Amino acid sequence: MNDISVQPISGALGAEISGVDLSRDLSNEQFNAVHQAFLDHQVIFFRDQKISHDQHKAFARRFGTLNIHPYVKGMDGHPEIMQIVKEPADKVNFGGGWHTDMSFLEEPALGSLLYAKEVPSVGGDTLWANQYLAYDTLSSGMKEMLGRLKAIHTAKGEYSERGHSAQKRGSMDVAVAGDDVPSYEHPVVRTHPETGRKALYVNMAFTEKFAGMTRRESLPLLKFLFEHCTQEGFTCRFRWTAGTLAFWDNRCTQHFALNDYQGKRRHMERVTVNGDKPF
Ligand code: SIN
Repeated sequence: MNDISVQPISGALGAEISGVDLSRDLSNEQFNAVHQAFLDHQVIFFRDQKISHDQHKAFARRFGTLNIHPYVKGMDGHPEIMQIVKEPADKVNFGGGWHTDMSFLEEPALGSLLYAKEVPSVGGDTLWANQYLAYDTLSSGMKEMLGRLKAIHTAKGEYSERGHSAQKRGSMDVAVAGDDVPSYEHPVVRTHPETGRKALYVNMAFTEKFAGMTRRESLPLLKFLFEHCTQEGFTCRFRWTAGTLAFWDNRCTQHFALNDYQGKRRHMERVTVNGDKPF
């Protein structure tokens, strides 16, 4: 018997799922319903979950192998779990800018599963933006041109000495990306390997330039795309409660962790599922 219900949270993307206890093994029927909701809504939320680290990883493993982040140190005994913490004294948060997780890898992340351990009484919401909509709403001329372009992605800016994520080195163990940090070329428009839909695949944090062009030449069009792909009509905003797990699809979304809770503590744990090479 499958009592799963799926409640969209905005007109653009996102849905809350009820009737699932993630501390238990999901039946194939439950798994299929959750998987379909993930593909249909791009980010799904499960409130009031009580899960151990092993249960968090076990649920994530139903979708693929788990990533060990190259810059953010995982938990002792659970290297696949990143603790994303903002202490009351911290000014900068992790993930506080529009991005797609791990697009700086040759095979970027399929999805991320973020579990809320402690959240401020107000603030600390996360936004997601639907990158299918970002693509679908472009003109046919722009679609055609972008369809021929590739872009260079790198962790150089974000994880370098002065990058945004690097500023989290206060309360998170974040390594410095050296000069030898690799770059990878990904299509600007990628085809989702499961749905077959096209999505825009550039993000402010990790996309440096178009392949075969300089950064200066690339920036005017990149800036247009960064603004276009995160406009409010493509987004949802989620108000966290402790015990909620969010699971988003990095192949067709971007997200932004709001930093509007100075002086308060927020503690999340993230497991990231490996993906394949974008095409
Ligand atoms: C992240 O970018 O993975 C963190 C998102 C959040 O803390 O809301």
